[in-house]
Amino acid sequence: MLQDDKTNSATASHSERLHRVIPGGAHTYSRGDDQYPANAPQILERAKGATVWAADGRSFLDYGMALRAVSIGYSEPAINEAAIQGLEAGNNLTRASVIELEAAERLVDMIDSVDMVKFTKNGSTATSAAVKLARAYTGRDLVARCAQHPFFSYDDWFIGNTPITKGIPASAIEQTKSFAYNDIGSLERLIAEHPGQFACVILEPASTETPATFIEPDGREVNYLQQVEALCRKHGIVFILDEMITGFRWHLKGAQHVYGVTPDLCTFGKAMANGFSVAAVAGRRELMSLGSIDRVGQERLFLLSTTHGAEMCGLAAYLATMDFLERYDVVDHLWAYGADLQAAINAAAEHAGIAKHFYAAGPAVSPYYATVTGEGAPWMELRTLFAQEMIKQGVLMPWLALSYRHGEAELEKTREALAHAMEVCARGVAEGIDKYLIGPAIKPVFRRFN
Ligand SMILES: Cc1ncc(COP(=O)(O)O)c(C=O)c1O
Repeated sequence: MLQDDKTNSATASHSERLHRVIPGGAHTYSRGDDQYPANAPQILERAKGATVWAADGRSFLDYGMALRAVSIGYSEPAINEAAIQGLEAGNNLTRASVIELEAAERLVDMIDSVDMVKFTKNGSTATSAAVKLARAYTGRDLVARCAQHPFFSYDDWFIGNTPITKGIPASAIEQTKSFAYNDIGSLERLIAEHPGQFACVILEPASTETPATFIEPDGREVNYLQQVEALCRKHGIVFILDEMITGFRWHLKGAQHVYGVTPDLCTFGKAMANGFSVAAVAGRRELMSLGSIDRVGQERLFLLSTTHGAEMCGLAAYLATMDFLERYDVVDHLWAYGADLQAAINAAAEHAGIAKHFYAAGPAVSPYYATVTGEGAPWMELRTLFAQEMIKQGVLMPWLALSYRHGEAELEKTREALAHAMEVCARGVAEGIDKYLIGPAIKPVFRRFN
């Protein structure tokens, strides 16, 4: 039972203590108790490579990887060393730092669509800055966001378009509309319903689905993202790609390079600096320079001004991460490991006879697993049972985030855990999941009530 007094933390569990002093018990909702089975570690102490250690002494092979922020491995010496040099050089100086310039030039060199970049500490501020730039550039208010992509920002322009609208003004809620991925007609209709009013379209290049290919009336083959880009150009709408997850993972030049599109603005974050807090809004000079101060007489746009935005340990970690990704072909490793993992999950589900309720799919570099009822609806109880049984085998698998430090030994351990977990899941499917679940089922983050 949660208590209000401040004195008895010696007897309280970690979970009780967390909830007493931190709303939600953690600093993202996806780390919350309601996202994990009852036997999950309540609190973690440290991590190395692809392994995390809990305060209760247990260790786990991790597929959460700090919400995908860590793409090489926890506590990677080369990245840590670079970050320490940043710290020793002062960490945050009074004017722009040398490493800030190097980091910006590196990003501009790597990503073809990018002329200018502003760094910040988290992804939400980057995507919100992109939306602000789009509104300033177009003089329009509306935002079109992809409905299938689960998260863009904690700011009102995005959360207002989810079921959790408490505390958000109606005016903000009205200004964001959603469209369906891989269905250009849905975006066309949205734009037609609000002619000349959309400032931007924002989506991830890919998530569980990748861009489908279509044949245009003139016989040309185009993919969905190319259709979105063309529609944006036609209507003077700013085309924003949120590469928070895909960036430096799909390809060193971003997923935009893989799918042959040129966004006006793009955002990066997770996987930029192997867990250090670095995110960025970047793009074409024409838009980004609205935030400049060197254009005499131009009306000012207040774009991302943050005390810690260019913290040197983070930017040093970013540069070292880029070196590491290039040197060790990390992107190729992630694609290959993901393909093997997907195959292993599907083989285990098949072997246990529950392939129609449990499958892995999605792009190999960032696969997902789904648990579905006979009617095809999400089956949260089955998902919870699976996560519970994987934890018993020493594998923390809330989703499938991969790193360079997931290698052959990790895959083998995963295969063994999967064989056990799928057998229990099969029994649960046959006899009733409740019989095997030791606590409540996981709940969706985006629900209106607790
Ligand atoms: C696609 C995408 N965009 C933006 C964000 C927000 O990033 P942050 O949590 O760093 O604010 C996330 C985080 O989950 C994300 O997945």
